[in-house]
Amino acid sequence: MDTLGFDIGGTDVKAGRMGPNGEVREETRFSTPVDQPPEELVSQIANAVRKLGSSLPVGVACAGIIRARDGFVAASPNLPQLRGFPLRSALEQELSRAVAVLNDANAFVLAEVRTGAGRGFHDVIGLTIGTGVGGGIVLQGKLHTGRSGYGGELGHVILDASGRLCACGNRGCLEALVCRAAILEEYAAQGGRNAADPETVAHRAAAGESAAIRTWDAIGARLGLGLGSLANIFDPELFIVGGGISKANELLLKPARVTLEDAALAPTDQLPEVRVAELSNAAGWIGAAAQAREIE
Ligand code: BGC
Repeated sequence: MDTLGFDIGGTDVKAGRMGPNGEVREETRFSTPVDQPPEELVSQIANAVRKLGSSLPVGVACAGIIRARDGFVAASPNLPQLRGFPLRSALEQELSRAVAVLNDANAFVLAEVRTGAGRGFHDVIGLTIGTGVGGGIVLQGKLHTGRSGYGGELGHVILDASGRLCACGNRGCLEALVCRAAILEEYAAQGGRNAADPETVAHRAAAGESAAIRTWDAIGARLGLGLGSLANIFDPELFIVGGGISKANELLLKPARVTLEDAALAPTDQLPEVRVAELSNAAGWIGAAAQAREIE
């Protein structure tokens, strides 16, 4: 049977219909309603369900700290309107059926391990870099989210206690140092001309502009510090870096590997590989659609 997946991010909601073997049948997206009550988001998802295949099982991935047991959103740094919202029960009421709800980055890493860059690996750490930075931990083939499901928030690992303010309220989180906004700030600090988005900074770096190259070197170095710390904790086989920012590819990953090597304690020849995601921006909804198969 086909299933539907949704990925609620800080900027937009990506969605699609997936076939039984992971085939992408249809994809769509709409802007995340901000400054509106969460019920508006729920009703927009329900509308999209009607268009994509109203009777199919639904999985929803959401940026935020989500209680696994009942899909309650305890906090969501980039979607503050969802704080304390019973997302799963609201969706179930609106759609009159059981719905699977999970963290967006957890959905991303599940999808990448099943059908993307992590195929064949068992110990994988995934990071998605965009408006926020999400994390997913797969150990021995299984997603690890801790006692209540709140774990795996790797974007909020603190790298610099006096660093840039994070959307979560702490300072110097990995997210605060490498997210979209941080890249644009770094580019301005490096003397870069106006850039509306990190993609522009990536194009300029690829064209040889030195402020843009220095920006990716600085952002990559910060990412590598985070990866090095995570390598020291988990000793994974592979890091997968996804989200919109991962399109910068080696501009980001090359400097990241350098600081990863410096920060990690394991022998250099045994450090994890670092790859960009294969499913790009679709991984979140694909992982959610896969999770919809687990609904009993
Ligand atoms: C949130 C995560 C989410 C990530 C990416 C972070 O700010 O804390 O739950 O996975 O952004 O959307």
